Amino acid sequence: MTRARQSSEGAHRVGVDFGTSNCLVAFAGPQGPRPIALEGDDATLPSVVQVPRMPPPAASLVDTPLDAYEAMQRQSLADALALGARARFGRAALAAAQDDPDGFFFRSPKSFLAADIDPVHRARFQRIVSLMLAHLRECASEAAGRPITQACFGRPVNFGNGTGRDPQLANSRALSLLEAAARDAGWQEILFEFEPVAAALDFERSLQRRQVALIVDIGGGTTDCTVALLGPAAAGEASARSQPVDRADDILASVGDRVGGNDADTALAFAGLMPALGLGLHERSGLPVPPQPYSEAVDVFSVPAQTAFQRAGAAIAATCRRCDETVARQVRRLETLRETGQTLWLVTRAEAAKLALSESAATQTVVALERIEAGLSTRVGAERLGRALEPLRLALERLITEVLAQAGARPEVVYLTGGSARATVLQDAVRRLLPGVPMVMGDAYGSVVAGLAMRAERAFGPGPAARIRPAR
Ligand SMILES: Nc1ncnc2c1ncn2[C@@H]1O[C@H](COP(=O)(O)OP(=O)(O)OP(=O)(O)O)[C@@H](O)[C@H]1O
Ligand SMILES: [Mg+2]
Repeated sequence: MTRARQSSEGAHRVGVDFGTSNCLVAFAGPQGPRPIALEGDDATLPSVVQVPRMPPPAASLVDTPLDAYEAMQRQSLADALALGARARFGRAALAAAQDDPDGFFFRSPKSFLAADIDPVHRARFQRIVSLMLAHLRECASEAAGRPITQACFGRPVNFGNGTGRDPQLANSRALSLLEAAARDAGWQEILFEFEPVAAALDFERSLQRRQVALIVDIGGGTTDCTVALLGPAAAGEASARSQPVDRADDILASVGDRVGGNDADTALAFAGLMPALGLGLHERSGLPVPPQPYSEAVDVFSVPAQTAFQRAGAAIAATCRRCDETVARQVRRLETLRETGQTLWLVTRAEAAKLALSESAATQTVVALERIEAGLSTRVGAERLGRALEPLRLALERLITEVLAQAGARPEVVYLTGGSARATVLQDAVRRLLPGVPMVMGDAYGSVVAGLAMRAERAFGPGPAARIRPAR
């Protein structure tokens, strides 16, 4: 866990790692970057927002308490905020969502930045992202003892599908939403930097000699790779290479794709948990229970998939009628999932199973599904996790092969960062691709934000290095 060092008094600007799973903020000082505490002593803030519904103003009610309840249920996020609802973030939001399941709850808003969605959803996401970014600015300002308005934000190389038809279109959609949300949140001077380049700048501080490094950042939503020439300046060079202004010449190649730990969670929820809700069983005719609503249910970061699942009630009821009672009883659990809207919770249970399996030598773990049915639980085996991580492993291998080909250089060292880089199957995959190349395990969470803080200081801070061009 990345612990924050307090006291950032006098600081002016920050790096902001707005991650799919976790956010971090850091200042760059003379002694190097310092993450700030975002929640208690923790430097990481889970990327989760909760907003409670608000009782309507008494004057707007016709008469009964029932009117009040219905008015609250009809409330939009904007209505609740206009009525003074206070958003909660991170672990506090997770706890609030547990106590108050009727409130608004959002996880990983970054996942939706690149989506091609209608203006109504887009405005809603902008509001949610801006709530988070305003909270991060508040934390930074409090730590500094002055309003902080200058930041270097991290960005993945590709917000959307990097192999899709037009990744740059998705990137510009995502960046314009992120920038608009940041401005709404009071950030005035904004710069973007590739997340793996930021991690490279952090790793560079530890190098004693110049070398070609492969930086691999495997996060919750995206995986990014950069090949860069890093290290202290060669003797005789005017400026120390560890503090140059523009590193464009040293960044040999960067690639990335929208694939990360979240994909493993979704796959594990489908193959490991959904069998307890009837997936894989058969109708009386011998045909399998249709898998589509199951795959839509676990696809929690897709608005169309979630909408389709919400509308699947009639189809699920029809499936139940085509099944024997023992099978129908299990399929009705899928209907409970739909009615209670607990898809995100189910995928979070799958993530917990992933962590339990990947952080121990256990061959299986038991997952409680009490929100679906009292006393319901299911076992998930380690081999299922291996299969759930398979697409991420294949994408990682493809990205590394691609970035090395683009850079035209063989790395002398590999630096791994990001929470998903803790998965040993992924570390092994990198080792197999680059036998004999030393592999350094970085700070899983703090590396990107440290580099972003240094970048912010160089861009906005005093001295000749100021005002370099944004990276986008
Ligand atoms: N021991 C572990 N094994 C496998 N995955 C892990 C482990 N620990 C954390 N993770 C995963 O790491 C991911 C979070 O990593 P991180 O905080 O680096 O992502 P992020 O920076 O928020 O996302 P991104 O950079 O993609 O926007 C989650 O998917 C989490 O489940
Ligand atoms: Mg990240």
